[in-house]
Amino acid sequence: MSRCLKIINIVGARPNLPKIAPLMREMQRHPEIEPVLVHTGQHYDETLSDIFFRQMGIPAPHVNLEVGSGSHAAQTAEILKRIEPILIERQPDLVLVVGDVNSTIAAGLAAVKLGIPLAHVEAGLRSFDRTMPEEINRVLTDAIADYLFVTEEDAIEHLLKEGRPRKCIHLVGNVMIDSLHQFLPIAQKSRIGEDLGLKNGADWERFAVLTLHRPSNVDSTEKLAELLGAMDAIAAQVPVVFPVHPRTQQRLTQTGITHHRQLCLIPPIGYLDFLCLVSKATLVLTDSGGIQEETTALGVPCLTLRESTERPITISEGTNLLIGTDPARIIAAVQDLLAGNRKIGRIPPLWDGHAAERIVEILLRTLPVELAS
Ligand code: UD1
Repeated sequence: MSRCLKIINIVGARPNLPKIAPLMREMQRHPEIEPVLVHTGQHYDETLSDIFFRQMGIPAPHVNLEVGSGSHAAQTAEILKRIEPILIERQPDLVLVVGDVNSTIAAGLAAVKLGIPLAHVEAGLRSFDRTMPEEINRVLTDAIADYLFVTEEDAIEHLLKEGRPRKCIHLVGNVMIDSLHQFLPIAQKSRIGEDLGLKNGADWERFAVLTLHRPSNVDSTEKLAELLGAMDAIAAQVPVVFPVHPRTQQRLTQTGITHHRQLCLIPPIGYLDFLCLVSKATLVLTDSGGIQEETTALGVPCLTLRESTERPITISEGTNLLIGTDPARIIAAVQDLLAGNRKIGRIPPLWDGHAAERIVEILLRTLPVELAS
C-alpha cells in the first residue's frame, strides 16, 4: 500500500515566512509528501503575517493556533498546549521548524515529547549571548532535533561541540536566500521608491534603510533614544527609511521620542517592498538576523547594531560589519561608507536558491517511512 510522508511545518513570526515558503513549494512538488502548515499565531497583524502569505504564495495554514502575544513563558506554554492535540490527531512523520523564535522551540518540544522526529532548519547558529531569547531557543531546539539543517560551516562546529551527532547535521544552504532569488525580480516592480520619493524615473537617490526591534535596543527608553539620536545625525546626511516594528512603535509612542525630518518612519512593510528597498539601498542599518544575510546575498553594505552576531559568515565573507550600538561609532561607520569605503563581499557557499530542494531530498532519502513502490 502506498503511504504518504506527512510533514507538519510550523510558522509563527514574520521571519519564519520567507523560510517556510520555498520549503512548502518544494514539498508540494513531491506527490509522496503531504505538507501540512500550522501557524501558531505568534504574529497576527496583516503587515507581519498575512501580506507575506499573499505575496509569497504560501498556502493558507491548515491550522492557526491563535496564541497571540504574551510573556515568553505564557506564549511558549500556550503553543505547547494548543499544538499537542493537533500533533496527536494528525500523526505526522516529521515536524519541521525554522529559525529561532518562541514558536520554533515550543512546537519542537511538543513534537519530540510525542516521539515525532523533528527537523530544525537554520540550526547551529550561535551568538553566545544567552541574554537573547533567540539564543535560548536555538540551543534548546538544536538539542532535541533529529535533523539539523545548517546554513554555514561554523554551525557544524557549534553543534559538534554541543555533542550532536555528525550524521544528523546537513549543510544545505539558506532557505531565506531561496526566497530572495525567487522574488527579487518581482520586488523590482515595487512602487515603494516612488511612494517614498526616493526614485526619479529609473534613478534611485542615495538612502539608508534602518530596522530596530531587538529587546536590548528598543525596550530601554535611554538606549532607543541614544540610537535614534545617532540616526538623526545620519539622516541629516542621507535619507533614512525606517519601517517600525510594533515592539519599537510601542516604545516610541510611550516615550514620544522625536526625530529628524529626514528619518522617515513608516509602518511595517511587506516582503516585496522591503526586498526592493534593501536591494537599492546605499547601506542598511539593522539589528535583525535575517537582514544581515539578505544584504550579504545582495552585496549591499550592512552595519549591524549589536555586540554579537550568530551569523559570522556575513562578516567573514559577506558585506556585514558588526559595529555595536555606540552612537559615535555608528556615525563614523556610516560616514566611512558614504565616502565610498565599502566592503566587497562574496556569496557564501550554497546560498544559491536551492536549499529547500536539498532539504527535501535528504528527508525523502532518510526518513524511515515506507513509500509508494
Ligand atoms: C519575535 C521574535 C524575534 C524575531 C521577531 C521578528 C521571539 C522570542 N522573538 O520578536 O526573534 O526577530 O519576532 O519580528 O520569538 N505585536 C503586534 N502584532 C503582531 C505581533 C506582535 O503588534 O502581529 C506586538 C505585541 O505587542 C507584542 C510585541 O509586538 O507584545 C512583540 O511581539 P513578539 O512576538 O513577542 O516578539 P517580537 O519582538 O515580534
